[in-house]
Amino acid sequence: MSFPERRLRRTRRTPALRELVAETRPHPSDLVAPLFVREGIDAEVPIDSLPGVSQHTIASLKAEVRRLVNLGVPGVILFGVPEHKDAQGSGAWDPDGIVQVALRELRDDLGDSIVLMADTCLDEYTDHGHCGLLDAEGNVDNDATIELYARAAIAQAEAGADVIAPSGMMDGQIAAIRAALDGSGHQGALILAYAAKYASGLYGPFRDAVDVQIAGGGDRKAYQQDWRNAREAAEEIRLDVAEGADMIMVKPAMPYLDVLVAARAEHDLPLAAYHVSGEYSMIKAAAANGWIDGPAVALETITAIKRAGADFVLTYFAAELAEAIV
Ligand code: PBG
Repeated sequence: MSFPERRLRRTRRTPALRELVAETRPHPSDLVAPLFVREGIDAEVPIDSLPGVSQHTIASLKAEVRRLVNLGVPGVILFGVPEHKDAQGSGAWDPDGIVQVALRELRDDLGDSIVLMADTCLDEYTDHGHCGLLDAEGNVDNDATIELYARAAIAQAEAGADVIAPSGMMDGQIAAIRAALDGSGHQGALILAYAAKYASGLYGPFRDAVDVQIAGGGDRKAYQQDWRNAREAAEEIRLDVAEGADMIMVKPAMPYLDVLVAARAEHDLPLAAYHVSGEYSMIKAAAANGWIDGPAVALETITAIKRAGADFVLTYFAAELAEAIV
């Protein structure tokens, strides 16, 4: 019997046929590795809730970035863990803050062989754990905060960052950072906007990694997005593009593929997705229990994020996947 439905199963018959018709192929060059660098330690510290990921010393960070370059991963994004936190998050914008020191070392060591991105936010550096400055009532002060983001962006660009990635979800942060970069001779520095960033429960392991507890058991719902809303994400992304973002990002990734698909349909700028710490740890934990095949699920997941429209993916699987793919 002959019927048109056979067409689809025929194309799946052999590995070579499947390879021929594959629409999406994740490649090491689609991946960006998030890395943590901690001040004041002399050996790297594994992060329990992020199996396989560590807080790095400058030396172990350099070794890890060299390994990623050799694997064909084109970018890393740095997060700092300072020795001392304060109310203003001064480690974020201090020229001698840990991320700025790390950027200078990596640039010296590796030249332009890697894209150096820096997360631009205050939460890793504030003693209250919020992404911005607090006013007298304990609320995050939007306009005072973006002035400090602008200072942090200049310090990061000066230290060698190619890409400034503001993650704090303050209004006007992209315009403020663009003006600061242009006004300080850093017209070539790009901005990757965490444009649609949700107040997700999936950032838990990351907060262990950067040692952040939000004061008073608080949350970020007054500045990060409500996960019930998708049209609002489209509006957030439009604003960031209008303010001058060079690249846009959706975060987290898997529960927000609808947001990613919509962003892809509307925008032709480079589009990224952040497969966040909790998404990674869920896969690692289930795999450690023998409940799923971890490497297979990792590949399926990152492929799906690319299929939905991401040009590149920030993922803690970067090294592992790059090794598996090539
Ligand atoms: C804020 C920031 C966070 C993440 C990236 N940048 C935490 C937050 O918003 O609370 C989370 C990334 C992850 O979970 O992997 N500086």
